[in-house]
Amino acid sequence: MKIGYVQFKPRFGDKAYNISKMVQMGEQLDADVIVFPELANTGYVFKHQKELEQLSEPMDGPSVQTMQELAIKKNALVTFGFAEHYNGSFYNSAAAITPDGQVRVYRKVHLFNEEKRFFRRGTEFFTFEWRETIFGMIICFDWMFPEAMRTLTLMGAQVILHPANLVLPYCQDAMITRCIENRVFEVTANRVGMERGLKFTGMSQITAPGGVVLHRGTKSKEEAVAVDIDPKQALEKRINRYNDLIKDRFPEAYRMN
Ligand code: ACM
Repeated sequence: MKIGYVQFKPRFGDKAYNISKMVQMGEQLDADVIVFPELANTGYVFKHQKELEQLSEPMDGPSVQTMQELAIKKNALVTFGFAEHYNGSFYNSAAAITPDGQVRVYRKVHLFNEEKRFFRRGTEFFTFEWRETIFGMIICFDWMFPEAMRTLTLMGAQVILHPANLVLPYCQDAMITRCIENRVFEVTANRVGMERGLKFTGMSQITAPGGVVLHRGTKSKEEAVAVDIDPKQALEKRINRYNDLIKDRFPEAYRMN
């Protein structure tokens, strides 16, 4: 299975440009799984509620529909971040779309900085199966909370899809640890460039069980990269003859007294 990312520089508020760039770069990537950045169709730095009202979409909106067409055309699992309008609230969401057209939406649980002014937090992680592989999603700052990837791992996730708009320099190295402690694959699709005074750090990354960095991208270039993996490797949780990182957990000892 080839898993990959598209790293690009969205233009704030220009959904037509962003979506056409995503289609163009996605079409050129030879991959079974394509991950785009967080809030890829809108840009990241919202300053007014009105902007969010204008740019957000429901999960069956035009951006998701265009990405559905891409998933079908590429016969690939496509994941991208978008500003979601649902039930009177706004969420920082990511859609995972399989080539049968099915859409699953994850709503970011751990909101970063000023996101808290605009978005409502999501309340659950979930997994889904496609091509005999179990996938889970997190969004950007969720990386900072080991519980996020651990929860998905305990639910059986083998590959974590991670749309991101990273501004801190730690995530790429932290992902090495996350993939050591969980023995999973992950794809971090970051964006590049400046937007309204904020600089994004690029270096999208594909990491394997054991913390092996299969690919780390450039800091500032637009690029699309995929690598071949065997997702079954993520099923092996034994570290040696005596240790298994799931079976050796001892939740009884993790309580606070
Ligand atoms: C972030 O969560 N976009 C840093």
